[in-house]
Amino acid sequence: MRIFLDTANIDQIRQAAKLGIISGVTTNPSLVAKEATADYETVVKTICSIITGPDSSVSVEVLAEDTESMIKEARIKASWAPNVTIKIPATAEGLQAISALSKENIEVNMTLCFSLNQALLGALAGATYVSPFVGRLDDAGHNGMQVVKDMLDVFKHYQLSTQVIAASIRHPQHCVAAAKAGAHIATMPYSVLMQMIHHPLTDIGVRRFLDDWKRISQ
Ligand code: G3P
Repeated sequence: MRIFLDTANIDQIRQAAKLGIISGVTTNPSLVAKEATADYETVVKTICSIITGPDSSVSVEVLAEDTESMIKEARIKASWAPNVTIKIPATAEGLQAISALSKENIEVNMTLCFSLNQALLGALAGATYVSPFVGRLDDAGHNGMQVVKDMLDVFKHYQLSTQVIAASIRHPQHCVAAAKAGAHIATMPYSVLMQMIHHPLTDIGVRRFLDDWKRISQ
């Protein structure tokens, strides 16, 4: 499973990139607004220069609501950097835009995806990725990870190449479940990535090894 960071915070992206395990970033208007900057283009270009590599992907959301405007906006945003992926919501207008953009070889991440049906339609339209929002599904009383599993099963059954990004990840157990389900990617906040790394027994073990070593080397 690949790991993407779900943030527009440049410091966090730089820190996480140093670990050498991040191959993508997903942003959305709320995440960009949280960083108190309205200049989406500068933020995206900076992120694209940090997260590089042949498989890298930086998701950038379109804000237009009708198909024609979505397509125009997507073309402009896709030109910002070679690793930009366009995020388009799972609506009828969005599906039309995804179909058109995939024919132009513009990578699309179908976002705000809450059902297997939406994911299937996105895959048929040619989306490179679909993003089921696991946490928001859980919040609404559904089983978000079951939706991820269903998408993976159906894509495998029909040999659809669209990749499933487990999104709206809220805690490390979501990462465990996404990996066990076989999700292609999990996109998560920086805090969850840090929680993935830390284990109290590792910290205790490191301390004990160092203390024991100090005792014999004095
Ligand atoms: O990647 C989707 C994500 O940004 C939504 O997360 O926590 O707002 O549901 P959340």
